[in-house]
Amino acid sequence: MQATLYIVGVGPGDPDLLTIKALNLLRHCPVVATPKALANGNSTALAIVQNALPMDEAHEKEILELHFPMKKIHLGQEPDPEVLRAWQDAATRIFAILSQGRDVAFPTLGDPAIYSTGYYLYATMIEMYPAVRVQFVPGVSAMSSCSAATRTPICLGDDMLAVIPATFSDGRLRQILEGFDTIVLMKVHRVMAHLISLLDELNLLDKAVLVERVGMADERVLADLSTIDGQAVQVHYFSTIIVRKK
Ligand SMILES: C[S@@+](CC[C@H](N)C(=O)[O-])C[C@H]1O[C@@H](n2cnc3c(N)ncnc32)[C@H](O)[C@@H]1O
Repeated sequence: MQATLYIVGVGPGDPDLLTIKALNLLRHCPVVATPKALANGNSTALAIVQNALPMDEAHEKEILELHFPMKKIHLGQEPDPEVLRAWQDAATRIFAILSQGRDVAFPTLGDPAIYSTGYYLYATMIEMYPAVRVQFVPGVSAMSSCSAATRTPICLGDDMLAVIPATFSDGRLRQILEGFDTIVLMKVHRVMAHLISLLDELNLLDKAVLVERVGMADERVLADLSTIDGQAVQVHYFSTIIVRKK
């Protein structure tokens, strides 16, 4: 019988934030497929799983390494051929294992519903193998965790929330910063100087908080962005800004 692919949200870093369902499934699946941005890089999602599982169980897992290049994806447009090839290659390799009757877990950082490769993999698998069995397991998102770490609500009452990748077009970014009550900016690390000057121009600097590596050993909170130098500040890819106007 064909087995199941579980696309499992593992939270943003702290293994204690794995759900019981996620942990049970990760223990159950003999194969863990690990997404990596660089062919020779590390998988943070795998590290979270390995920290959460008992050591002997972690060692017994078969690890299927998958390489997903980090490139911008614009929905509605054909993805870069290298990205498409990576999704298809991952789907082929995972399906071969499922066809042997072995369940596969695909751990993904945070929640699979938010900017996760999990849904691209799912779409590719369904297209290539329409009968494939796939289940999603939600996880704690980075923004929820950043909200908790800074005691900043994300939305209350009639607040309107926007969640956006900060790397996209400036026009859209400005419009959204002006039009919403809370704005969660993800993928901020390469555009900090630009973001700081845009937030300054819109008088939002003192309403913004940045959390870097939330839930990890070296978590850092920049509570008031008006105090930092946008040109000089260096932040890790695992950084999120919450702008809350009210
Ligand atoms: C590809 S998205 C993944 C989002 C993830 N699926 C989620 O539910 O949060 C990567 C972005 O998530 C945010 N992120 C992921 N882990 C984080 C962490 N530990 N601390 C702060 N932000 C994090 C950053 O904005 C990063 O650029």
